[in-house]
Amino acid sequence: MQIFLAGATGATGTELLPLARARGLTVRPHVRPQTAARHPLGKDPDAVVCDLGDAAALEAGVRGCGAIVSLVGTMRSRFGTGDTYESADVGSARQLVAAAVAAGVPRFLLLSSVGAGGAGAYLQMKGDCERIVREAPGLRWTVFQPSALVSAPDAAGHHGRRELLPGMMALGGLVRALPGLRGVADDWRAIPIAVLCEAILAVLERPRDGEVLLGRDLWALAGR
Ligand SMILES: NC(=O)c1ccc[n+]([C@@H]2O[C@H](COP(=O)([O-])OP(=O)(O)OC[C@H]3O[C@@H](n4cnc5c(N)ncnc54)[C@H](OP(=O)(O)O)[C@@H]3O)[C@@H](O)[C@H]2O)c1
Repeated sequence: MQIFLAGATGATGTELLPLARARGLTVRPHVRPQTAARHPLGKDPDAVVCDLGDAAALEAGVRGCGAIVSLVGTMRSRFGTGDTYESADVGSARQLVAAAVAAGVPRFLLLSSVGAGGAGAYLQMKGDCERIVREAPGLRWTVFQPSALVSAPDAAGHHGRRELLPGMMALGGLVRALPGLRGVADDWRAIPIAVLCEAILAVLERPRDGEVLLGRDLWALAGR
């Protein structure tokens, strides 16, 4: 199967892309023009280099794919670079869904967040993204709602740029040990990006259409 990977140059995309290719998927990574010059994926032979606002280029880029996976997102600290929740998260959901519908891409996998639709600008915006995907005519969708994403420690025990504080890990472990709270704890405990990627690949291989997958589902799909 061919997949179009939006957000390929981000933290999750950087881990997902080589894993997907190793599984035999043909991946077209999306790269923004302003990122292409400084990122190795700018030279990837299968990369689709375009602005997501370029509807014709995007439609051509997704045509023939069996699924679009969107890992696109921004954060408040990056608003200064020009991206906002509306332009990056919500805008990309609209643009990618429109391209999927126009090009007949049957499936859409959206990386959202636990608590989407809840209080606060970030969670409200994630709820809007989910609604855009769920309401697209004829599109088969799956939404992923992980908690905080962390990088696994390397062989020397060093984490990547997203280390979880030891105190938070200990607290999560305690809550998880309480009777009846394991599922809830798994929904809210931080999740290594590698675990999330395994879950996404599992869903690409065995579709979970129309489902919103919580942390407990992601851990299970990854076989952890
Ligand atoms: N980090 C967490 O703890 C966490 C937890 C739950 C959910 N999430 C969600 O998971 C998703 C992925 O997170 P991440 O940490 O992998 O993200 P990340 O490292 O910040 O990467 C974001 C990706 O989105 C792309 N992007 C941003 N604005 C764009 C735009 N306007 N048009 C096209 N592409 C754009 C970036 O491209 P450039 O490289 O060109 O900037 C990059 O590839 C996000 O939606 C995030 O909200 C994150």
